[in-house]
Amino acid sequence: MLFPDYRPRRLRQNEAFRRMVRETVLLTDHLILPLFAINGKDVKNPIPSMPGHYQLSVDNLVKSAEEARRLGIPAIMLFGIPDKKDSLGTRAYAKDGIVQKATAELKNKIPELMVITDVCLCQYTDHGHCGVVEGQIIDNDASLDLLAETALSHAKAGADMVAPSDMMDGRVAEIRGILDENNFSNIPIMSYAAKYCSAYYGPFRQAAHSAPQFGDRRTYQMDPANAVEAIREVTMDAEEGADIIMVKPALPYLDIIYRVRQEIDLPIAAYNVSGEYAMIKAAAEKGWIDGTKVMMESLISIRRAGADMILTYFAADAAKELGRAVGY
Ligand code: PBG
Ligand code: ZN
Repeated sequence: MLFPDYRPRRLRQNEAFRRMVRETVLLTDHLILPLFAINGKDVKNPIPSMPGHYQLSVDNLVKSAEEARRLGIPAIMLFGIPDKKDSLGTRAYAKDGIVQKATAELKNKIPELMVITDVCLCQYTDHGHCGVVEGQIIDNDASLDLLAETALSHAKAGADMVAPSDMMDGRVAEIRGILDENNFSNIPIMSYAAKYCSAYYGPFRQAAHSAPQFGDRRTYQMDPANAVEAIREVTMDAEEGADIIMVKPALPYLDIIYRVRQEIDLPIAAYNVSGEYAMIKAAAEKGWIDGTKVMMESLISIRRAGADMILTYFAADAAKELGRAVGY
């Protein structure tokens, strides 16, 4: 079809036509809001590099979660900031740990809101790595037990889904095993399967006090240069029993989301991470971009690449925008 017989602009001339031929939709159903839980009462510490986000004590966390539910957001992703850290990250799998307490309270107050818990050790270890450290090495197999214990303790506290983000080999099978042995065979695993070693996590590490104290995460998180390897990672996690596969970060890795969509028949989650959020917020604050429009365009592009659901610090803002039912 060639001009002038075919004119692509015919179907762009008004919003009704544009709506009719729109290929991708973004719904509030697709959004997952990350929240940070900290000990104490009436705590609401602003996170400077993530405007609109806070370290929240459980009482305030419930308020933010309630607001998310009211906006129609189906799920939150919960991160914990413990009082104490140690070499084995024991507060990650403590019965009275911050995530365990927050989860129980959320499920008690807002049962219909899904609580997904991030399963990792880095906020809880004094060295800040996602696994157990032997000298300067992150010991893969020694970490698996502790990650599985963490996932189990979250399930016992009432978590609806667990999401391992550590990138140790074999942890999905280990977690599936311990959940099944303990009568949690109904709890799905959302695996951070293709998680890259990314500088875009910077604001999160400030928020969660989880920066590594020596070295970096390159021996376990993926090399940003690799795409074929992502297929290997997600295939492994699918075979180990993952129910949802995550790609992280999102915007600089849309090609990975697309490739994974072609190869894997599981639902795909994309994590629109802290640095992606911070950049848009900062440029918008300066008046250099229209923050709301860039947010909506970013989220639709993640959906277009093939993600089913999006973890995003924009979840509440986007849900409000979608409530207005214009544009995308
Ligand atoms: C912990 C974890 C991180 C993020 C989610 N879980 C940080 C990291 O791996 O260093 C990043 C989230 C974000 O940047 O928004 N393993
Ligand atoms: Zn970690």
